[in-house]
This record gives sequence, C-alpha cells and structure tokens, in this order.
Amino acid sequence: MTKVTSIDEVQGLLGNAGYVCGRSLATVVFLSLRLGRPLFLEGEAGVGKTEIAKALAASLDRRLIRLQCYEGLDASSAVYEWNFPAQMVAIRTAEAAGTHDRDMLQAELFSDEYLIARPLLEAMRPQPGGAPVLLIDELDRTDEPFEAFLLEALSDFQVTIPELGTIRAPEPPIVILTSNRTREVHDALKRRCLYHWVDYPTFEREIEILAARAPEASEILSREVVAFVQRLRTEDLFKRPGVAETIDWAKCLLALDVVSLSPEVIADTLGAILKYQDDIAKLQGSEAARILADARADLAG
Ligand SMILES: Nc1ncnc2c1ncn2[C@@H]1O[C@H](COP(=O)(O)OP(=O)(O)O)[C@@H](O)[C@H]1O
Ligand SMILES: [Mg+2]
Repeated sequence: MTKVTSIDEVQGLLGNAGYVCGRSLATVVFLSLRLGRPLFLEGEAGVGKTEIAKALAASLDRRLIRLQCYEGLDASSAVYEWNFPAQMVAIRTAEAAGTHDRDMLQAELFSDEYLIARPLLEAMRPQPGGAPVLLIDELDRTDEPFEAFLLEALSDFQVTIPELGTIRAPEPPIVILTSNRTREVHDALKRRCLYHWVDYPTFEREIEILAARAPEASEILSREVVAFVQRLRTEDLFKRPGVAETIDWAKCLLALDVVSLSPEVIADTLGAILKYQDDIAKLQGSEAARILADARADLAG
C-alpha cells in the first residue's frame, strides 16, 4: 500500500508536483490511497482532472499508465491483443522451414512474445517502483458495455487470457477515473469509487495555479487575467473557459509582451480562451470592454 499518512502530506506531495490542491480534493485522494479505492473525478473540461493523476504519479514516483477512452473502445484495445501480423510471419516462416509440429507452433504463437499488452493488462503487471497509477481518462466517451466490463476488471484486478492463464496484480494499481460528464456514468461503477466533483477554482486558487504554471506572468497581469476569466465563466457561453485556457491565455499575453489587459488585446487573443465562434462573436465589440470593467471592479472591491 501507499504510505501516505495525512491529508497535509497529500497536499504537499501534489504541490511539489505543481498541482494546487484544495483540502477537499486532498482528502479524497488521501482516502483513495489509504483505502485502495478507485477515485472518480468528474467536472468540466480543463479543470485539472487528468493533471491530478499525472501529478500523483510524479509525486509518488510511480509509473503512469493511461487508458484514453473513446467511442467504440472495446476490451481488446483496453486489455490485450495478439500481434496478428507477427503471428502470420511466424506461421509463414515455419511453413517455409517445413516445421509442421502444430502444437509447438500454437504454443509459441500464443506466448508472451506475440502478446501486445494494452493499458489494463499493463497495470496488472508488477512494476519496479510499486503499483502504478492507472488513469482511465474521459470515461464518459465510452459506452455502457465497456463500463460493465470495467466494473469487473476493477473489482478483482485480474485479467484472464485463455491461452496464457490469469494475470493478477501483485498490488492493486492506484486507479483514477475521469469524466467530463457529457453523459452520466452508471451508478454501479460510481459506487465502487470515491467521488469528487472538480469545480472551477476560486479566484485565489486560480492565481496560485497560474503562479505555478506560468510563473513568468507579473502579479498585475495574473490578477487581471484570472479576474477576467472568472467573470467570463459567469456569462452565458456555449463552452466556458477552463484552467487550461487561463494558463494558455496568460502565456499568449506574455509572448505578446502585454503588461495589462485592454479591450483590443482581449479581442486579438480571444482564441486562446474561447474555442467556439459563437462565443467569440458574442465577445466582440463592447462586450469585452464591459466584462473587463466588471473584472477590474472585482479586483478593486
Ligand atoms: N489545480 C491545478 N494545479 C495546477 N495546474 C492545474 C490545476 N488545474 C488545472 N491545471 C492545469 O490545467 C491544465 C488542464 O488540466 P487537465 O487536467 O488537462 O483538465 P481536465 O482533465 O479536467 O480536462 C493542466 O495541464 C494543468 O496545467
Ligand atoms: Mg482530461
């Protein structure tokens, strides 16, 4: 098991890896590590869910194994596949050499050498530094049959390959699942996990994140950027900007040697924070100036 002894320690570990972590998130991460339960993180895109897994792996010095979910993901792409082209070559070679011992060939073809381990199998294998962090990212992109399959895989941490036998994790991996909530993930799976909703950060926390991720930005610029983005999130937009966008935007402004926001600068760089033309169009003209004025009022108040 992972030997973290307190919530403070978790906060410190993640902090060292550049992740600004609030008390409630640190608590649920701590519990997940202590109890060996998967952690289910839900929230809007760009709020730092995936990054938690990366920071945790880095700070615990564990290998990070990522299963990126997508529509149509099936068990074989998630667990293992046989290297079919290599098997074909081996068969042809054996035929050419006149080796006709079918049993021997069969045993050889379905051995480790021709096995392609996908993330779930990889996560069950022993790792030198201890159990890996298994990140099952954007689970909401898959379908229900895959969820059902995952539920089983997460309950016993073993994989059975008919030709090879059962592979059992010597120590269960540290499992983090994320969802951008484009659909609800099934209750049964959620019940296996500890749950945390990753929200947009508060003003103070987002300033801290920016200080960690874009330390070159001056305090004045950082405060304006964060105040503006925080204001923007209260507007009626198709896609509200995440923390990733705040960081990107600050970096763009730095690259342009901007020291303070103006409606013109905002109009020129909107593509860094808004990724839909309708949202961008909405902010053209006097809207950007109004939001900037509101943001400045927030800073002054
Ligand atoms: N609390 C945080 N501390 C440090 N960086 C953060 C934090 N939250 C978000 N980030 C930054 O935002 C970026 C996007 O986060 P990401 O984990 O990809 O979002 P999500 O998976 O929720 O869509 C990350 O690359 C990271 O740099
Ligand atoms: Mg993500």
